[in-house]
Amino acid sequence: MQRGPYGYFDDEAREYVVTRPDTPLPWINYLGSEDHFGIISNTAGGYAFHRDARLRRLVRYRYNNVPADTGGRFLYMRDAETGEFWSPSWQPTQSDLDGYRCRHGLGYTVIGSRRADIEAETLYFVPLGETLEIWRTRVTNHRDRTARLSLFSAVEFCLWDASDDATNFQRNLSTGEVEVEGSTIFHVTEYRERRNHFAYFACSADVAGFDTQREAFLGPYRGWDRPLVVESGRSTGSVAHGWSPCGSHHVEMTLEPGETREVVFLLGYWENPEATKFDDDGSVNTALVAPVIDRYLRSDAVQDAFDRLRDRWSGHLGALQVRSPDTHVDRMVNIWNAYQCMVTFNLSRSASFFESGIGRGMGFRDSNQDLLGFVHMVPERARQRILDLAATQLPSGGAYHQYQPLTKRGNDAVGSGFNDDPLWLVLAVAAYLKETGDSGILDEPVPYDNDPSSATSLYEHLHRALRYTLDRLGPHGLPLIGRADWNDCLNLNAFSESPGESFQTTEHREGGVAESVFIAGLFVLAAEDLAGVAERRGDDASPLHDARSAMAAAVAEHGWDGEWFRRAYDHFGTPVGSAENDEGAIFIEPQGMCVLAGIGLDDGRAERALASVADRLATEHGIVLLQPAYTRYHLELGEITSYPPGYKENAGIFCHTNPWVMIAEVRAGNGDRALDYYLRINPSAREAIGATHRCEPYVYAQMIAGSDAPTHGEAKNSWLTGTAAWNFVAVTQWILGLRPDHDGLRVDPCLPASWDGFEATRVFRGATYHISVRKKPGVTGRVAELVVDGARVAGNAVPVAPAGTTVTVEASIG
Ligand code: BGC
Ligand code: NOJ
Repeated sequence: MQRGPYGYFDDEAREYVVTRPDTPLPWINYLGSEDHFGIISNTAGGYAFHRDARLRRLVRYRYNNVPADTGGRFLYMRDAETGEFWSPSWQPTQSDLDGYRCRHGLGYTVIGSRRADIEAETLYFVPLGETLEIWRTRVTNHRDRTARLSLFSAVEFCLWDASDDATNFQRNLSTGEVEVEGSTIFHVTEYRERRNHFAYFACSADVAGFDTQREAFLGPYRGWDRPLVVESGRSTGSVAHGWSPCGSHHVEMTLEPGETREVVFLLGYWENPEATKFDDDGSVNTALVAPVIDRYLRSDAVQDAFDRLRDRWSGHLGALQVRSPDTHVDRMVNIWNAYQCMVTFNLSRSASFFESGIGRGMGFRDSNQDLLGFVHMVPERARQRILDLAATQLPSGGAYHQYQPLTKRGNDAVGSGFNDDPLWLVLAVAAYLKETGDSGILDEPVPYDNDPSSATSLYEHLHRALRYTLDRLGPHGLPLIGRADWNDCLNLNAFSESPGESFQTTEHREGGVAESVFIAGLFVLAAEDLAGVAERRGDDASPLHDARSAMAAAVAEHGWDGEWFRRAYDHFGTPVGSAENDEGAIFIEPQGMCVLAGIGLDDGRAERALASVADRLATEHGIVLLQPAYTRYHLELGEITSYPPGYKENAGIFCHTNPWVMIAEVRAGNGDRALDYYLRINPSAREAIGATHRCEPYVYAQMIAGSDAPTHGEAKNSWLTGTAAWNFVAVTQWILGLRPDHDGLRVDPCLPASWDGFEATRVFRGATYHISVRKKPGVTGRVAELVVDGARVAGNAVPVAPAGTTVTVEASIG
């Protein structure tokens, strides 16, 4: 059963089972679906937050701490007989455990183990629609005698703004406040003044004691690995005034042989209406949250909420299920890649083990791309996201690079001027329209820069996005790059010489003419998408077609280097990503994006570009971003040359770009090469080399170290990456070829020769399509015959069927 060095996939249960706690890095999961989230590691580390990982952080977490991952959801068992204590999730005591298991599932995690014949297992999840996290702990006595045990809980509260919490000690060591009512600890820092929200930590059992002052719980100069309270077996009843408020319950239990006891903890967030913030005596009004707490402390309510969460996920995943000859394809498409798409949609790049939750809000470019992998699961949420994003667009058509999830406003600190940003909105809206057919969204009034008086239709926003590019063309007729394009680290106008300065926001050198071939490719794609939308509205699409052709011509004339597409022209008009460069002679992005946009398919340039990728960039661990790696700092190129060779954008395998090449290969008709590239970075396919890969085998990472790096093959920055959405698109819409389009569902696979076909179930606009694709092994090519409900259909588009109906589709290749 076990395939990887640290665990295995349980596909039936849709879980990854981690079988040892000391994974190379914390292997994390996400709790929460919409507004309330937590990240949880395989040893119960991590934190919880409400909507915004920076502004509404519930508990503390110290990034890059030692020992790794020690902040989190602490539980301790103590045996009164021996005085021995341990953590059932291993951290923070790191005691030896029997039968340790962490099961990461979709929106929940279960961690359990045994020690001294006492078993403890905890289920963690956020119920749908609630702003709280449940920890359901079950303790079983496997001894043949009575066990007298204590269970201690502990969390360290964060004083809301995670950035201030970690820096502003002159203030925040004096502001902490708590209230305790029965078994519930309320964390109420700043509630007296401008906040109307508090956190709570509740427990279903009558407690023998509690603590809320961290130092009282731990004892002087001690860590979470041996709190004095746990060691001595007695809580102190401390009430925090300033310093570091924490929450700890002490539950005593006497268990007969074979007996199991269940204890439920709730870690929650609550907002009171301004008018009813306080009780008459001036204390915090807890009456409104009380019924919620009472409800979820009940075992049956917990089970019911958990069942509903599981059902919800079955529903989401039911939108697309495939059975192919390859387990890694099936497992990722059917379970994990879809799940990761939901997580990236929810959190963009804000909170993971690598993203601190305080640095970045929601990326404009990121969120539009995340939507591509998510829209088929919950189109209504995608619709809202599109409107939120478009409302941060600027009147010029440009975009803020990021916005804050709590306020939904553009983030001034990061600003705008990443010249690719607006174009991604066109791709996202087109994907939404193709999936749903909801053309009404185009007429929604949407403001610019959140100013209601500026509102126009969403459709006009899309036109302005394209105009933004056309208003900013350089000397070669290619788009000016601005601060950067998709590659945030290719900073052709920054010329940064001061250490620590941000490459992305530093003042630009005047008079720049730096141009991006990548944006040109993206523009061609976006113009084609918008032309398709315009035609369906009965608008004249010819200006869009003309702009598209002109851009494609500029790429042909100035973007082609002879054997591949160039990357850019720098501030001085010198080519970047050209055979004439000794470092960075070929980049992956324009090969992927230009070919995927259809450039060069008719004149052999696409084939040559892809052959160059195969010869120069492809490694066994994936396709690197560029070659040769930059070995010295190039002032005129920026951050990309600041990374050591083989890491990140400097010739790392920046996984987000790989699916563009897979799609390009499909467009060029190379199914074998497309699947081969797909499998090189597929996390499940890399499970067996977990000691090299090191990150979670169930999700994509942003980067795998490239061939120039001493740690070639080592993944980094898992979870929050556009890799999730783009791989989902590449494998489902292009390799398997199930591609939503305005007028129907295309069935247009491009399979490897060895496959004999596949089966799929796809829900599209409310109808369910059972699709079977047949092919003789050895044959390649596209669909030759398409039969829908027994009748032959010309082309490869299955017409839209009425919602609620079931359609049988048979396609044969070759
Ligand atoms: C990273 C990029 C990231 C950028 C902006 C850089 O240091 O390498 O991947 O997009 O910062 O946050
Ligand atoms: C990470 C960013 O979130 C994404 O927007 C960008 O495209 C990549 N880095 C590449 O630099």
